[in-house]
Amino acid sequence: MTTDRGPQPSPGVEARPTGYLAGFGNQFATEALPGALPVGRNSPQHCPYGLYAEQISGSAFTAPRAHNRRTWTYRLRPSAGPLRQQLLAAPALISHFTDTEAPPEPLRWSPPPLPAPEESLDFIQGLFTMAGTGSPVQQAGCGIHAYRANRSMSDRFFANLDAEMLVIPQLGRLRLVTELGVIDLEPQEIALIPRGLRLRVELPDGPTPGARGYLCENFGAPFQLPDLGPIGANGLAAARDFLVPVAAWEDREGRFELVTKSLGRLWSAAIGHSPLDVIAWHGNHAPSKYDLRRFNTIGSISFDHPDPSIFLVLQSPSDTPGVDAIDFVIFPPRLLVMEDTFRPPWFHRNIASEFMGLIHGAYDAKAEGFLPGGASLHNSMVPHGPDAETVRKALQADTRQTQRITDTMAFMLETRLPLLTTTQALQAPWRQADYPLCWSGLERRMPG
Ligand SMILES: [Fe+2]
Repeated sequence: MTTDRGPQPSPGVEARPTGYLAGFGNQFATEALPGALPVGRNSPQHCPYGLYAEQISGSAFTAPRAHNRRTWTYRLRPSAGPLRQQLLAAPALISHFTDTEAPPEPLRWSPPPLPAPEESLDFIQGLFTMAGTGSPVQQAGCGIHAYRANRSMSDRFFANLDAEMLVIPQLGRLRLVTELGVIDLEPQEIALIPRGLRLRVELPDGPTPGARGYLCENFGAPFQLPDLGPIGANGLAAARDFLVPVAAWEDREGRFELVTKSLGRLWSAAIGHSPLDVIAWHGNHAPSKYDLRRFNTIGSISFDHPDPSIFLVLQSPSDTPGVDAIDFVIFPPRLLVMEDTFRPPWFHRNIASEFMGLIHGAYDAKAEGFLPGGASLHNSMVPHGPDAETVRKALQADTRQTQRITDTMAFMLETRLPLLTTTQALQAPWRQADYPLCWSGLERRMPG
């Protein structure tokens, strides 16, 4: 139907198209109903279909153009509403990191157990904080969590005011139904959810065996693609491989719950409609996903193992040039061709802190014990490196032969600050307290 205010949607008609626009940080424009985006202006007196216009600002209004983020949404109702907020108990979700007794030694965990059928945890309820640094109040630092879920959020929605969220599935698919569209996510893909965006997380594969993975809350500057420097115009993660969902909306009324994370606490409010009611939007403050298997790995073709910065997918810059607040790095399948080189990652101590996870397969520096779904933490200046068995094999390897590393996908969240390990992570039954023993087989050497 068309009126002098443009076409009108039929009551109850919803559009849930799935599809994606390609690019990272582009100015996207998408509409689930034809003509729903105003032309030539953002906030006309009467929007098409009579919709509300609402801007979501992801940066200061005056941020430089390259860092300026905002999205205009056109929706059934504005996000503002008469919501009564009540604190929710969420003892395993931690955002305020205080002194802990984390020992100055390498830490490692087996995969956290999936929720038992009688537990019935959704994505939010199953969050378990491993470590973090900084603070949502200062808008700097990160929180690193494991998630475990066996239940979809159906009548429950979530908004994280504290952080941009980097979702890293390890087991089971997720469907992220957001205000700006639907992202279908599987292990070896990642998703970025901008600060403040409302969504629900569904498990399309059902409750068995459930879903598990990692969540990095980025309290600071949004993740961006790194400069490529001498690499040139191509390589690492390509902007065109990031996928942003097209607009999709639902018109649901009922008894729903909106859970909001604010300054480290969860708040619950009853809401009488789905907040996922954006019919059209344009802008660059948008969710996206990326398939890690598309990463163009660059490495040494002469000698020496390069620094892991060569595997950088995304960075959250700090105020210090060249020093990132968070680096998201992956170790994907690749060829090792360096001659006369100790090929595994070398022994080192690092002022940055390294939290690692394994999404798939095996990691080349740890012959055993580092399992898919597990994690390790090598904190600032804590010595680490390949385990004794990996060293033994590397010393015997014929480096005139190409080594093909297949069937693997590990990642690292590297931060400039020490990561404060939560007490619950240190005391978790799935912590491998004997992890440092993996270096016990390293014998004394004498040069010459
Ligand atoms: Fe390291």
